[in-house]
Amino acid sequence: MKNTHNSKIIIHNSIKSAIQAMHGYTLVQPACPVKLNQNECPFDVPDEIKREVLDEAMGRNWGRYPDFVPTEVKTRLGERHGLGPDHILVGNGSNELIQATFLAAAGRGDRVVLSVPTFTVYALMNTVMEGDLCQVLLKEGLTFDVDRLAEEAAKPRTKLVILCSPNNPTGSMITPEEVARIATTASGLVVVDEAYFEFCGVSSIGLLEHFSNVIITRTFSKALGAAGLRLGYLMAHPDLVQEIEKVKLPYNVNLISLIAAKRIIQEQALIEERSAFICSERQRVFDQLEAISGIRPYPSYANFILFEVDRSVHAIFQGLIEQGVLIRDVSRYPMLDKAMRVTIGAREENEAFLEALREVVRIVE
Ligand SMILES: Cc1ncc(COP(=O)(O)O)c(C=O)c1O
Repeated sequence: MKNTHNSKIIIHNSIKSAIQAMHGYTLVQPACPVKLNQNECPFDVPDEIKREVLDEAMGRNWGRYPDFVPTEVKTRLGERHGLGPDHILVGNGSNELIQATFLAAAGRGDRVVLSVPTFTVYALMNTVMEGDLCQVLLKEGLTFDVDRLAEEAAKPRTKLVILCSPNNPTGSMITPEEVARIATTASGLVVVDEAYFEFCGVSSIGLLEHFSNVIITRTFSKALGAAGLRLGYLMAHPDLVQEIEKVKLPYNVNLISLIAAKRIIQEQALIEERSAFICSERQRVFDQLEAISGIRPYPSYANFILFEVDRSVHAIFQGLIEQGVLIRDVSRYPMLDKAMRVTIGAREENEAFLEALREVVRIVE
């Protein structure tokens, strides 16, 4: 078929200017044997669990939609946190639920408050919604500026405050008492993204009892080791859950992932054992990083470590790739122009990273 339209004109005339101006969410992903760039779990779901999930899936009719409301999964997730199923919304990854929250709460010109640097998806969603972004910088030492966040949260037209704790990419955390201070003054919703909760153990879930404007999101992609299944959930007051549910797409989670969710959350002991291992490796890697001249790691409550280098971030990033180790260059984030982020992996991956870094630091000026 002859293309009679110039795609540039089509885009100019039909795509929102905010989207045209945007850089999409991209990831440099060269194939490297040691992959420590996405904060994934180094351990796969055990084979016997995969088999059980697939056996149950084999018994289902794949030609039918999954349950309209995944009540069983919502009930089990609720039980995990002492909440009823009406407090829970299940998503195709927690990203989907963050998106649904934006769709439900933030329109053009509404204020969205972020503590930055943080996970880039929030600002991306704000751009899509044409919101008015207010970025509150972390304090020196990369801790949350709670006073300023509370102040900004209180301003009229503020529909969303998003706090990531532990924060990606810095590893900092905010306490429930501090979240409560912000939620008390907030004129809108306060979302706490707890994707990395299991490596920190401090949660704001307890606030749900007292604050009907607080939302907590969690994921199966990190400590639960199931990023490939795309599973996440949101917890909030049932009235708020009902509103956000209206904008989530119907049948957003496929039947295999729903079966897997139900099965994986029974493995609490395994999740805790693996998370404890990652935390002990985090300490070991931190100590080793501190011992390398020119490297300054920041303490972390997550399954990754942010560190600053005293020479070219780009050269070190490329040097590591040449050694077969892929980490994340975060030097484009505000405040982090000398920083990189490494995921804590299996012991041999962490060793390979440390060895490669020592070598690259020796070579790079
Ligand atoms: C802070 C944070 N929230 C959410 C996500 C995405 O989670 P999901 O895989 O559940 O969409 C990530 C992934 O890196 C993350 O770092």
